This record gives sequence, structure tokens and C-alpha cells, in this order.
Amino acid sequence: MKSLAGFIAGIPKAELHLHIEGTLEPELMIAIGKRNGVSLPYPDAEAARKAYNFSDLQSFLDIYYRATAVLITEEDFYDLTIAYLRKAASQQVRHAEIFFDPQSHTARGIAFETVVRGIERALVEANDTLGVSTKLIMCVLRHLSEEEGIKMLEKAMLWKQWIAGIGLDSSERGNPPEKFIRLFERAHREGFLTVAHAGEEGSAASVKKALDTLHIVRIDHGVHCMEDERLVEELVRRQIPLTVCPLSNVRLRVFKSMKEHNLKTMLERGLCVTVNSDDPAYFGGYINENYIEAAIALDLDRDAIVRLAQNSFTASSLSTVHKELYRKEIDRYIQQESN
Ligand code: ADE
Ligand code: ZN
Repeated sequence: MKSLAGFIAGIPKAELHLHIEGTLEPELMIAIGKRNGVSLPYPDAEAARKAYNFSDLQSFLDIYYRATAVLITEEDFYDLTIAYLRKAASQQVRHAEIFFDPQSHTARGIAFETVVRGIERALVEANDTLGVSTKLIMCVLRHLSEEEGIKMLEKAMLWKQWIAGIGLDSSERGNPPEKFIRLFERAHREGFLTVAHAGEEGSAASVKKALDTLHIVRIDHGVHCMEDERLVEELVRRQIPLTVCPLSNVRLRVFKSMKEHNLKTMLERGLCVTVNSDDPAYFGGYINENYIEAAIALDLDRDAIVRLAQNSFTASSLSTVHKELYRKEIDRYIQQESN
């Protein structure tokens, strides 16, 4: 029988919480920076990795936004996206719902169209050659104004064939969900899938507010929901998915260590939790490393892993038929593994 790590590596899964800019590995960052003549505060990839030592979300975001400055041409966005998709395919990711942060690029004078075209070219290639289906979710930066976010939404409305959803990310502290009620009302009316980061550093009240005011179908992170039993009851009853990112939570000190992560408690409580990698180039691992490190620290068994993988498809925005096909693929995998 395979080890638990081997079992995790082979199980079909979906990734639902992944910032494409967070997949910029130091080697690619240095290479793209060189070809575009953008200087970085690191002499090489090793020095960059050493500098990735974060004390909280904001200290990470400062470094993350600075690194995105190397991304300038359509080719850069293609290279970034295809590198992630190759890695995801190698980890048995069958479907990925990918965030991108256009405001971190348009603020530097890069055209929205350049970003979307580069990403889109990689998504088409992944579908054709890697067997990974994708959806693109445009995130609005919550530290900026709602008006600026609405300008992005209006751009996304012209790219509906490529942009399936609208999300909300960046600094949670001081930027509550209520700041974006009008924007999400409009996104919902326009037929976009809507999701939001909430309860990462923010409290259970922030999760509740996002749920009640933003029409969201999923919560990104949401780990602080456990502080409010009534909210947990609602999330369980409505099976609202929570896209949890274990390595991110430890690296950004939401939990002191993986052993203290509440993923297992959330799963046992009946919440529809999924495991994701958030910003894998910065947090020490892609989706399989997230499953493996959480499984080791929290003593998750095969049944828990299967539940997490099934949840990843259930929580996706795939059609009912596709969700069922992927869950059947998991059933066949379990059967083959038990023979
Ligand atoms: N942008 C990229 N990663 C993020 C995270 N973990 N939380 C909020 N915004 C982000
Ligand atoms: Zn995130």
C-alpha cells in the first residue's frame, strides 16, 4: 500500500484558492526581471527565498506586490501562468480556479488587456495539453477604494468570456466587507461568481458580514469562523465552502504551528473545507505539500484526505455533471489503491 504522501500525490483534486502572482518562483522572478530591466532587492533566487520571512499578512503583501513589478509583457503573464499549471497538473490538479490582481499591474501602467491575454493563452494551452480545466477570478484589492474596484469590474465586464468570477483580497484589517457592498451587488447582478477573503486575520464577524452582504458563494480562508458557534451552524447547514490554505496560515502566523491549525476540527464539525496553496512560491509548497504537511501535523487519515479532495470539486463552480465525473474519478482511484 502507498504511503499517505503517495496517496495524496495521486488523488485527483481541484485548487480553488490560488493567486497567480503568488506562484512567481524566485528563479522566474529574477529571470523576468533581468529580461525587462527591472531591478530587485535580491541578488539571486536564494537571497529572495531567505527574505521570505513574514510576521503577518501585511509584511507578506509588501514583498508580494514589489515582486509583481517584474511582470510587464503578455509573455511574462503567460510564462507565470503556464509554469503554475504545469506544476498543478503534475500534482493531479484537474481543475483550478485562479485569482489575479489586475490593480497591482494597472497601477504600474500595464494594460488590463496585456494581463488577461497572457494568462488566457496559458489557460487555453493547459486545457488542451495538460488536462487541467480552469476558471479565472479577478480579485479587487480591498486596501484601495470601492470606486477603483468598480473601474476594474467594468473592465472585467468586457472580458466575461474569460473572467468567471470576482473576488476580494489584500489587507483585511481596516478594510471590512461592507466597503465593497455596491461593487459585489453589481458583480452579482452581472452574473459573476463571487467570492471573498474573510476570516484570515479578521474575526468571525468579518466572515458573517461577507456572507450577509456580498452575495458570495465561497469564503476564502474563513478559519476564524470557528469563534462563533452560530455562524458555524449556518455554514454547515448551508454547506458554504471555505478554501483553507494551511501553509499560508502558518507562514503568516494565523496559527503558531501546523499542529495548532483548526483544519481537522473544521472538517470534523461538518464544514465544507478544502485545501489550497494561496501563494505557493512564498509559503513553501504547492497543493500536495499543503495536504501532506497538514496530514502529518494533524494526523489526518485517508478518509479525511478523500473528503477534502471530494470537497474541492463540490466547492468548485464546475457543472453538476463535471463535479460528479471528478468525484467518480476519486472513487476509482480509491478502489485502485485498495487493491
Ligand atoms: N493576496 C495574495 N495572498 C493573499 C492572502 N493570503 N490574503 C489576502 N490577500 C492576498
Ligand atoms: Zn488568498
